Amino acid sequence: MKALILSGGTGSRLRPFTHSTAKQLLPVANKPVLAHCLENIRDAGVTEAAVIVGTHAAEIAHVVGDGSAFGLDLTYLHQDHPRGLAHCVQLAADFLGDDDFVMYLADNVLADGITKAAHAFAAERTDALLLVQPVADPRAYGVAELGADGRVHRLVEKPAEPASDLAVLGVYFFTSRIHRAVAGLRPSARGELEITDAIQRLADDGAPVRAERYDGYWKDTGKAEDLLDCNRELLGRLPGPTVLGDVDAATTLSGPVVVEPGARVRGSRLVGPLVVAAGSTVTDCTVGPYVAVGPDCVLRHSSVADSILLEGAAVDGVPALYHSIIGRWARIGRSADAGHQLLVGDHANAEVAA
Ligand code: DAU
Repeated sequence: MKALILSGGTGSRLRPFTHSTAKQLLPVANKPVLAHCLENIRDAGVTEAAVIVGTHAAEIAHVVGDGSAFGLDLTYLHQDHPRGLAHCVQLAADFLGDDDFVMYLADNVLADGITKAAHAFAAERTDALLLVQPVADPRAYGVAELGADGRVHRLVEKPAEPASDLAVLGVYFFTSRIHRAVAGLRPSARGELEITDAIQRLADDGAPVRAERYDGYWKDTGKAEDLLDCNRELLGRLPGPTVLGDVDAATTLSGPVVVEPGARVRGSRLVGPLVVAAGSTVTDCTVGPYVAVGPDCVLRHSSVADSILLEGAAVDGVPALYHSIIGRWARIGRSADAGHQLLVGDHANAEVAA
């Protein structure tokens, strides 16, 4: 089986971060979402994968390279514009040939892996196997209507009035029959070639199309609150304290705290789960729970909880920062006056205490 990894798109709901990087490279628990995806694909026994890339092709190639660090052999395919998930299958037709493949939307995190589903697909080889999960508001997803045997009867992309609460996850298993279904598709009302339309075609043609419920943790990290949720979930799975960095005696630690080698902590209270990456310094702070401090960050005289700090972020003299994502080399400091002084980037979102 091969893999087709979709890492293009615009990431407009994750601006301002996606002005300078791909949404699939944003970190959860200090690891890019794309890296979680590559690990799941490798763990499912796949070795050959194509990655669809768009505007941020260079950054993606810089981070994951030829894939060898993940045990994968990666081929990059460039998409000029996000023309839809089925367009990505068309682009990859030569790479995929007649092989079965798993199509993985690289902004999806499936924390419990895809190995069980890959085995189910290999055993049954239905022409499509989808993963579904009930969600409170299915309107933001592909929505599946299933028979009692798990057969897919109807699929609708982002319906205004969903007929079921079963959202389609961003991991699909296909035989080569999908290539006939994506050929000649017409763009949907939102101008994209929809994979849901192609799968519906398969089902209408009588091909076996099945869905399986994914019982593990799943999140589409398309929005900031989803990234933070995912960060909490993955930090919550840290096995226990691992303190390899330089932590002084005046610092107290509780819960699963990870301080990487090359990080420095002084006079602080670290409340796990949290991780402090190499090159970061934390001085006179309370950090955690649920904080991922990326590499080369500087935290001083501050209190930070439930947040993601990207590489080089600095927080100085901020008493209660929570539920926040701080971008690369961004700085948050204390104002000398009573008011707030903000230099906020394009499409950023800031909320200050009233
Ligand atoms: O997350 C699950 C949902 O993913 C499914 O329930 C929907 O049926 C499916 O259409 C998809 O919806 P999204 O609106 O979340 O898709 P998005 O545009 O965010 O794209 C998903 C991934 O594929 C993302 O990593 C970007 C990439 N992509 C997307 C398009 C449209 C491409 O590489 N090229 C594209 O043309």
